[in-house]
Amino acid sequence: MSVTIKEVMTTSPVMPVMVINHVEHAVPLANALVAGGLKVLEITLRTPVALECIRRIKAEVPNAIVGAGTIINTQTLDQALAAGAEFIVSPGITPSLLEASLSCGVPVLPGVVTPSEVMRLFEKGITAMKFFPAEAAGGIPMLKSIGGPLPQVTFCPTGGVNPKNAPEYLALSNVACVGGSWMAPADLVDAENWAEIARRAAEAAILKK
Ligand code: 3PG
Repeated sequence: MSVTIKEVMTTSPVMPVMVINHVEHAVPLANALVAGGLKVLEITLRTPVALECIRRIKAEVPNAIVGAGTIINTQTLDQALAAGAEFIVSPGITPSLLEASLSCGVPVLPGVVTPSEVMRLFEKGITAMKFFPAEAAGGIPMLKSIGGPLPQVTFCPTGGVNPKNAPEYLALSNVACVGGSWMAPADLVDAENWAEIARRAAEAAILKK
């Protein structure tokens, strides 16, 4: 069953953003996050094994909703779709990626920062966007300001979001969920510390939206 963009945005308050270096970590990592209560997972295409990680999680962790991040062009979009990505996240948008995204058949979460970028996507019917890089691009005051003229658009801020500021982001009316890497940072994954990752996921999963 295919997922909707609403499910991607509202199933969990926090979307783990993962960089996986070893393919054998994919399934235990996803299991730890799902056990903690986070089901919507973004695997970034920043390592050579990322596509295989998506395939394995899709096959072996049925409770996860697995998406592909770091989609930067139509080539990476096609690769992610072929691997079975259930949704697509991009750090920004280009005209060709936008056209391909609109007809790709799975929900897309394109990255934006400015009102003009938001308007360009809104014009195409997109109302859910990633606000990236959230902290560097103005964070909470910027999102509040964008929400004035463009209240129809809902965001997933990512980049510099952490356990301390996540509740403040989630309190905004135009934020549906936040993304971040703090539940599964490289050191914990490399150490195969699935218990601590599950603990962090559980803490994130109970954040209020
Ligand atoms: C990224 O760029 O890797 C993601 O946006 C996650 O950012 P973070 O590591 O600041 O949470």
